Amino acid sequence: MTSAPKPLDFLWFIPSSGDGRYLGSDDQSRPADPAYLKEIAVAADRLGYSGVLIPVGVACEESFVLAGHLAAYTEKLKFLVAIRPGTASPAYYARLAATLDRVSNGRLLLNIVVGGSAQELAGDGVFLPHDERYDHAQEFFQVFNDLLEKGHGHLDGKYIKAHDARLGFPPVQAPRPPLYFGGSSDAAIDFAGGLVDTYLTWGEPPAQVAEKVAAVRKAAAARGRSVNFGIRLHFIVRETDEAAWAAADELISKLSDEAIEAAQDVFRKQSDSVGQARMVALHNGRRDRLEVSPNLWAGIGLVRSGAGTALVGSPKTVAARLREYQALGIDTVVASGYPHLEEAYRVSELLFPELGLESPRHQIRHSFGERQVFGGGGHGGNVKLASGS
Ligand SMILES: Cc1cc2nc3c(=O)[nH]c(=O)nc-3n(C[C@H](O)[C@H](O)[C@H](O)COP(=O)(O)O)c2cc1C
Repeated sequence: MTSAPKPLDFLWFIPSSGDGRYLGSDDQSRPADPAYLKEIAVAADRLGYSGVLIPVGVACEESFVLAGHLAAYTEKLKFLVAIRPGTASPAYYARLAATLDRVSNGRLLLNIVVGGSAQELAGDGVFLPHDERYDHAQEFFQVFNDLLEKGHGHLDGKYIKAHDARLGFPPVQAPRPPLYFGGSSDAAIDFAGGLVDTYLTWGEPPAQVAEKVAAVRKAAAARGRSVNFGIRLHFIVRETDEAAWAAADELISKLSDEAIEAAQDVFRKQSDSVGQARMVALHNGRRDRLEVSPNLWAGIGLVRSGAGTALVGSPKTVAARLREYQALGIDTVVASGYPHLEEAYRVSELLFPELGLESPRHQIRHSFGERQVFGGGGHGGNVKLASGS
């Protein structure tokens, strides 16, 4: 008999570039209003998510400042904050990270984003070709990690020069907040093997994820290290498989062919990311072949860069698919769904019980033991029934 798999570490996502109900449409879209993002973070904290990913990019609110804002309104939620080496010095980022870890009482996780658009990086003052960005990041995190772990760092590197750098206050977490990272090129895999604590992949079919997991494991083992693994996926979970597929269709029901063509053109011209190319190759811009592996739907990637796939189905179906990834070594899930507030509820209420995850985490007592049933009670609220009835 096999033992039950270990519970997944399940995070949600803060849509810091905006949110909506229909991809590729202004209809019922929501701006990245700080008050709305706060609602999502508070919901995620209550509903039992262990953390939230906050992305980085010119179209996003700044990740460290936003995490500091959201930390003030949440209790246990961790913040997987994107950090892009090259946009500031390692010493400056070490101060940001240490202070954020301190003000959040040890709730900082870091997601290293080396970047996949030469054009966007040029705007940030980074002009390195694809593979060299990883050599630069290697030097950057040497100084960054030394500062967070020991309070001082020094490097006269090819890319990073930091002379006798100091950090006044240590982070709460020792030796430092964990480092997450995603990237699919050979240079990225090599970088991950040498440095990161958790390797994240976008939601490719299990066989392709297995290849990357094996490659990162090999790169890590060559340095006497081991790495944890996580997957970044959207979720469309409904009470039945049919209802979930109908919701997937609904999500792209206002998406025009022109919008798809325009988005794919941008990916082709502005991205040199191998990971992004692997996402596009799943559907090649065609809306008639979107179930790229059982229950794995690539509709989101028709217009959204980055994470472009969703697991679609009933709670049982989706949990079974997640178990397939878990069998490959994935133990962290970074999830999202449109719109992010409502879908945070759905995923927690429908899927968490199937996964054996607690929800909600901060459950207070609601009765003296009587069963509570919603509807028909005082003011339409919960009815108290004798236990067992
Ligand atoms: C889980 C995950 C999250 C990512 N988050 C961001 C992000 O917030 N901003 C961004 O510009 N790129 C993001 N990326 C893209 C990668 O950081 C990387 O820049 C890109 O994939 C190029 O790497 P590659 O060519 O080695 O695949 C993310 C990738 C993954 C897998």
